[in-house]
Amino acid sequence: MSSVLRFMGRTAVVTGGAGGIGQEVCAAFAAQGAAVAVVDISREAVDAAVASLKADGAQVRGFVVDVRDAAAVAAMMASVHDELGGPHLLVTLAGGSLGTPRDLPDITPEDVDLVIDVNVKGTLYCVQAAVPFMADAGGGAIVTTSSIGGRQPSPVTGLPYATSKAAVVGLTKRLAREVGPRGIRVNAIAPGLFLTGRLQGMYDAMPERERREVLDAIPLDRFPAIREVVDPILFLSSDEASYITGIVLDVNGGRFMPS
Ligand SMILES: NC(=O)c1ccc[n+]([C@@H]2O[C@H](COP(=O)([O-])OP(=O)(O)OC[C@H]3O[C@@H](n4cnc5c(N)ncnc54)[C@H](O)[C@@H]3O)[C@@H](O)[C@H]2O)c1
Repeated sequence: MSSVLRFMGRTAVVTGGAGGIGQEVCAAFAAQGAAVAVVDISREAVDAAVASLKADGAQVRGFVVDVRDAAAVAAMMASVHDELGGPHLLVTLAGGSLGTPRDLPDITPEDVDLVIDVNVKGTLYCVQAAVPFMADAGGGAIVTTSSIGGRQPSPVTGLPYATSKAAVVGLTKRLAREVGPRGIRVNAIAPGLFLTGRLQGMYDAMPERERREVLDAIPLDRFPAIREVVDPILFLSSDEASYITGIVLDVNGGRFMPS
């Protein structure tokens, strides 16, 4: 039972919590005893995610927040503290390529701003707002989201995305060093290609030859289930990872193997 309810008494904030990976992370935290704050930019998506979690009996609140807005992020974190306690756990999933083009000539300054603002600054604002509450609670765990596209040159995503997801690695390590003495662990997850709804459509539209190329680069020779990134995120958030901080956990079926 203890291994099943390993987050009992803790509050988890999940940004991008209404997204493809985020919803599954929220559900897994709730199933393992955590109170959950679902944070996302779309009212409709937050309401749907919260309704689904509540139907499964979760203690959950939804927050419609643009993570680029530092003041709104700080207000959200204070509301989480008042309504749910903590927060003790933070997973920053809000972000992505955000519909920006992949090829260099097509990228506008607005595209660059959007991807850097959400993926990098949004992550920074969230950790900055969460750390004081975690320190007051005696410690906590933060999982940030990099990507295989920030770990090696990926043909799937563009330059702003690669830049932002590499920056998340630097942010994660620097933060881990600063807040470790306060009992807060900070690690990054770097997923390979997980075919959430949006990406499944993109993959399905690719020619068979290109699809084969993508698959051939994965030693495990298959695409993962969403659970296969959710479980590593929960591991890094759990006491089972109590002596792990400042790492990047690559979850990619062997497509990228760091030395
Ligand atoms: N799915 C993959 O293959 C994959 C691979 C590597 C990294 N990632 C990363 O994992 C994270 C989640 O990916 P996903 O596949 O679940 O994508 P997704 O698009 O389904 O989810 C992202 C969520 O972030 C939210 N969001 C976007 N901008 C926001 C903002 N300004 N403020 C608050 N919320 C905002 C979106 O509304 C969405 O719900 C992203 O950071 C992505 O870059 C995903």
